[in-house]
Amino acid sequence: MSDERARPAVSVLIHPKGHLNLTYQVDFDNHVLKGKVALTVEVLEDKFSVLTLDTKDLKILKVSANGQTAKFALGAKHSYKGSPLEITLPLELSRGQHVIVEIEYETSPRASALQWLSPAQTAGKKQPYLFSQCQATHCRTLVPCQDTPSVKHTYYAQVSVPKELVALMSAVQDGQEPDPNDTSRVIYRFRQPVPMPSYLIALVVGALESRVIGPRSKVWSEKEYVDKAAFEFSETEMMLKTAESLAGPYVWGQYDLLILPPSFPYGGMENPCLTFVTPTLLVRGSFSGFGWTGNLVTNKTWEHFWLNEGHTVYLERMIGRALESEQFRQFKAMGGWKELHESIERFGANNVLTNLVPSLQDVNPDDSFSSVPYEKGFALLYYLEELMGGPEVFMGFVKSYIQLFAYSSVTTQEWKDHLFTYFKDKVREDLFCGKLYVPPFQQPYQTSLLQLMDPLPLSHVKRMQEVHHFNSIANSEIRCRWLRLCVRAQWEEAVPLALKMAVDQGRMKFTRPLFRDVYNVAKFRDASVKAFKEHSATMHPVTATMVAKDLNVEHSTGL
Ligand code: BES
Repeated sequence: MSDERARPAVSVLIHPKGHLNLTYQVDFDNHVLKGKVALTVEVLEDKFSVLTLDTKDLKILKVSANGQTAKFALGAKHSYKGSPLEITLPLELSRGQHVIVEIEYETSPRASALQWLSPAQTAGKKQPYLFSQCQATHCRTLVPCQDTPSVKHTYYAQVSVPKELVALMSAVQDGQEPDPNDTSRVIYRFRQPVPMPSYLIALVVGALESRVIGPRSKVWSEKEYVDKAAFEFSETEMMLKTAESLAGPYVWGQYDLLILPPSFPYGGMENPCLTFVTPTLLVRGSFSGFGWTGNLVTNKTWEHFWLNEGHTVYLERMIGRALESEQFRQFKAMGGWKELHESIERFGANNVLTNLVPSLQDVNPDDSFSSVPYEKGFALLYYLEELMGGPEVFMGFVKSYIQLFAYSSVTTQEWKDHLFTYFKDKVREDLFCGKLYVPPFQQPYQTSLLQLMDPLPLSHVKRMQEVHHFNSIANSEIRCRWLRLCVRAQWEEAVPLALKMAVDQGRMKFTRPLFRDVYNVAKFRDASVKAFKEHSATMHPVTATMVAKDLNVEHSTGL
């Protein structure tokens, strides 16, 4: 098991179906959330008197347990795990008893789960903006909690914000009211009745508007993007219905989408009820099946991340198959295969991070992120699909896996045990090749179109620009590939364009390879470092940390 907890030696003591009652006051002047959380926990062992929670960069002001003041202490800070918060309960509890622990605290302006944007960094230029990204282990910078995907809980939240702004969370909206303590503010309320892991807690505050795009869906963004977003995601309900026909009912009620500012570090984040999406996807309407694999059935630790991502990629490609064709699925699989090999090449084939189930002992889960869990996971499932009797047969297995493990968290062993039970004599241990979960590496898909990534000589690249004018392409996927090709061909003129793209948007999928490619050409290296240093202060904290590592640059988070 990995040790993502701030104090790994402590076993999970809280009942997996706890509850969090959160109150936030969002302070844009100081970049701080003033928070109060009441955690309802069930004790799982006798003689229980010390509760350990995960925190990172939190200022803890006051702790009480069942209304009585409780003693607390913060342990030594670990670089990425943060500090354990040890709460000594005023009374000893026995197995089966409940306790409500209330904590008053403040977040740090450098909380790694948050990016605070100035009005100048928004589309509207008038109001500030705040968004969170908790996966994998950043929730502890927002709330003291058991920050592990092995624990699930429901939540309720009340968020006070300036009344010009709108707050949304990964939950169902439960009304709003003027803040009784401050007439310039309004309180938004949220309810998440489905148990979920801490990494799915999410908050956004900004000048947001919405458009209805389906019976259970709205799209949210700053008003400058909202109509375009409504158009791009107009097929959401059709995709949800297709996913339901394949995977079973969607249990989260609402399925809204939020289009974030360009600095959002990921393509999408499946926050329940409100998927967060990068604006770089706006030209390519996309959907993910995480409502099932990931949020409902969750990896027990980040070492089993492929269970979330591999199954979701599989489900997403099955949706593509149902809505388009088998060839479409094959085409997507082919692209994924290429991405997998790029990641393996970058890590080195013997790097443990290329394992389907890597050991993350002393590895920050942010460092392990790559295409491997997505595409090696998909490749394994596709390989098993062929052996077990094809897409329909194998989708039956995936659906039963979802039903069996819904509302819980699983390990690869549990997945595998279910695979063996479901297919009985059809599946044998030696199918796994002796080596843990490595499908045979031959290119298994029908190829027609390949991605444009192999190095080309400078003259070819220049000619491509003359004929096709790729420099003016706005589609981020194509633009990123094109600029990387130019930089690798050592075309000096492309360097400012590549660095501009790397900082104008912050999706790590684009930003990191662009910075890395520029850095890897010796004569361009200084330009990459200079551009990073100029922009790091206004970049997303996680993106800045990762790029600093890629470029071997010192990067202080100021803490
Ligand atoms: N959950 C991931 C994003 C993530 C992973 C954030 C690990 C933090 C740590 C998300 O579901 C994802 O994979 N998004 C994809 C796009 C999506 C449409 C499949 C991405 O970010 O590219």
